[in-house]
Amino acid sequence: MKRLAILAAGVSLIACQLTAQTTQVFTVKANQVKAPVQKTMWGIFFEDINFGADGGIYAELVKNRSFEFATPLMGWKEQKLNNAQGAVLIINRGEQSTNPRYARFTVRSASGYGITNEGFRGMGITANQQYDLSLLARATEGRTKLRIELVSANNQKIAETSINLAGNEWKKYTASLTATTTDPKAKLNIWFDGTGVVDADMISLFPKNTWKNRPGGLRADLVQLLADMKPGFLRFPGGCIVEGRELENRYQWKKTIGAVDEREVIINRWNTEFRHKLTPDYYQSFGLGFYEYFLLADDIGAEPLPILNCGMACQFNTAEVVPTEDLDPYIQDALDLIEFANGGTDTKWGKVRAQMGHPAPFNLKLLGVGNEQWGEQYIERYKLFAKAIKEKYPAVQLVSSVGPNPDGPLFDYLDPTLRGLKADILDEHYYRAPDWFLKNARRYDNYDRKGPKIFAGEYAAQSKAVASADNSNNWQCALSEAAFMTGLERNADVVHMASYAPLFAHAEGWQWTPDLIWFNNLQSYGTPNYYVQKLFSVNKGTHVVNMTLNNEIAGGQNGLYANACIDSVAKEVIVKIVNTGATPQSSEVNIEGVKKLATTANVEVLKNEDLQQANSFAQPTGISPQPTTLPFKGKKLPVTLAPYSFQVIRVKIL
Ligand code: AHR
Repeated sequence: MKRLAILAAGVSLIACQLTAQTTQVFTVKANQVKAPVQKTMWGIFFEDINFGADGGIYAELVKNRSFEFATPLMGWKEQKLNNAQGAVLIINRGEQSTNPRYARFTVRSASGYGITNEGFRGMGITANQQYDLSLLARATEGRTKLRIELVSANNQKIAETSINLAGNEWKKYTASLTATTTDPKAKLNIWFDGTGVVDADMISLFPKNTWKNRPGGLRADLVQLLADMKPGFLRFPGGCIVEGRELENRYQWKKTIGAVDEREVIINRWNTEFRHKLTPDYYQSFGLGFYEYFLLADDIGAEPLPILNCGMACQFNTAEVVPTEDLDPYIQDALDLIEFANGGTDTKWGKVRAQMGHPAPFNLKLLGVGNEQWGEQYIERYKLFAKAIKEKYPAVQLVSSVGPNPDGPLFDYLDPTLRGLKADILDEHYYRAPDWFLKNARRYDNYDRKGPKIFAGEYAAQSKAVASADNSNNWQCALSEAAFMTGLERNADVVHMASYAPLFAHAEGWQWTPDLIWFNNLQSYGTPNYYVQKLFSVNKGTHVVNMTLNNEIAGGQNGLYANACIDSVAKEVIVKIVNTGATPQSSEVNIEGVKKLATTANVEVLKNEDLQQANSFAQPTGISPQPTTLPFKGKKLPVTLAPYSFQVIRVKIL
C-alpha cells in the first residue's frame, strides 16, 4: 500500500512538472516601449501582373478597346448574320498620335453585320446592374444606327440599347444598358443597322457600380479588399513592369496621365515572360495610370510610393541600360513626378494634377529609384538620381534596391554599398520556401539600428519553387509568413515598411503564383496570406513593447513566434502569437507594466489543422479570422494555442 502511495505521489509530481514545463509563459512589459510602429509598416505592393490592372481592378470590360494591340482585332470578332455584307479596315492616323489606330466599318447590308468583343476571358455582368457604353465615332457615309447588346456565353440577349450616329465629325457617344441576367462570360455585340461607313475608336464598357461610383473607375469589390486592410502605403506600379523587358516598354508615368484615349497602349511585359503561361492578349491601356494610383492611395488612406525606372530594363531580360550621360530625362521624370504629386497649382505639373481633378497635393513622401536592380550599373544610376532629388526635395525619402535576393553576392555588394551612401530605405525581396521564413524570423534582431531603414518590399512563401505554376496560397505558407512578420514588427525601429507580392491574380489570366487576392470576372477572395496581412495591419498598434517567451525573444522556441504592441490611442495591449507546431500548446500571457486590464480580451484566430488547405471561390473564407473572447485573470490570460494557428489578442488598459 505504502509503495503504491509513493508511486502515485511520484506520478502526480511528474505530471505536475510536465504541465509546468509545457505551459509556455509569454511576458509582455507594456511600459517598456522598444520602438514606434510606423504608419507605413504594413502596405500593399501593386503591379499590373496576372491581369491585376487591365482585366482586373480597372473595371473596363472591353479588351483592346482602341485596336492598338499588335494584332489590331484581337478580342474582336466580325459577325455576318445571314451572309450580311460588311468589312472592317484598321486605319493608322500616323506616328504623331498616341492612339493611332481606329476601325473603319463599311456596312453594305441593312442588317446582320456587327462586331463582338469577348472581354477579358468574358465579361462579368450582373443582373439588374447598369453598364455604361461609350465610343468615339463618326459616320462618314450613310446614317447608321448602332444596336448594342450584351449577350450571355450562349448568346442569349441579356441587355440592349442603341445609338444613332449623326454626322461625319468624331464625337463621343454614350448609352447605358441594364442586364437581365448574371453571367461571368458575357460578350458585347455591336450591330450596324443601315448601310454606310462608320469609323470607331475607344469602344468602352464599364459597370456603373465602380469604387466610389467613379465613371471609368475601379472594380469596387477589389478596392474594398484593399481598403479593408487599412494599408499604410501603396507601392505602384510594380515590380518588373517598371523596368520593361527592354527600355522601350518601360513604365513612363507621363504617358499614363491626361485624357484616357490619349494614353499610349503598350504590351504588358508579362505577356511573354513565362513560356508555360503565355498571355498574348495582355496589354497596358493605362486607364489605371499614375493619377488614378495616387487617387487610390488617397482613397484607402495609404501613403503613395511610386517606383520609377532608373534607366535600366529588367535584368532578368535584356538588362539594357541608358548611358549615364543620357540619364537626365529619366531623372527629370522623377523631379517632375514630385511636382505632379506635391506642386502648387501654379507649377507646370501641379497644374496638370489640378486639371485632372485634384488641386490639393497628394503629399508624396516616398519614391523608389528603380525596382529590383543590382550591380554597379545600378549604384552609378542611383547616385545620380539621389543627388538630383535630394538637392531639390531633401524631405523625399528614397527607396533603393538591394536586388532580388535577401543574401548572396548581389545583396552582399548592394547592402554595404548603399549603407555607405547613406541611403534612406533599402528594399529587400524574399520569395522563399516556408521554412526560410521560419528560420529568418529573427533576421532583423541584430541589424544595424543606425543605418538605412528596411522595406520588406516583396515577399511571399513559395510552396514549390519561386514563381512555380504549382505554388499554392496554402495555410503553411501563410502561417510561415505570420511567424516571420512577428520579427518584422518586433524590429519596427529598423523595418519601416513591408508588403506581400504580387497582389492580384485573375483565375484565368495569371502568370505568377502565389498571389494575395484571387478573382474572376465576378468574384474575389482573400487567401489565408491576405488574412495574415490584414490581421497584422489592422492590429499594428502604435508602439512595440518588450515581450518574451520563457524569458527569451519569442523567435521559434517550440514552434512559437510572438510580438506585442500597445495602441496608445485605443489604450490597448495587442499580442500576436503564432503556433507553427502540430499540437495544441498551453500558454499564459502575463501583462506587466499596467495598473489594470479589462477582464476579457478580444481574440481573432486564424487556424487550420491541414497545412495544405487554401481558400477558393467555393470557400472564399475557409481560412479567415474567427473572433472570440477570453477571460483575463488579473493580468494573466491562460490560452491554449491551437495547432497551426495565429492569434491576435487585444485587451483594454483600464
Ligand atoms: O512580384 C513579381 C515580381 O517579382 C516583381 O515584378 C519583381 O519585382 C520580382 O522579381
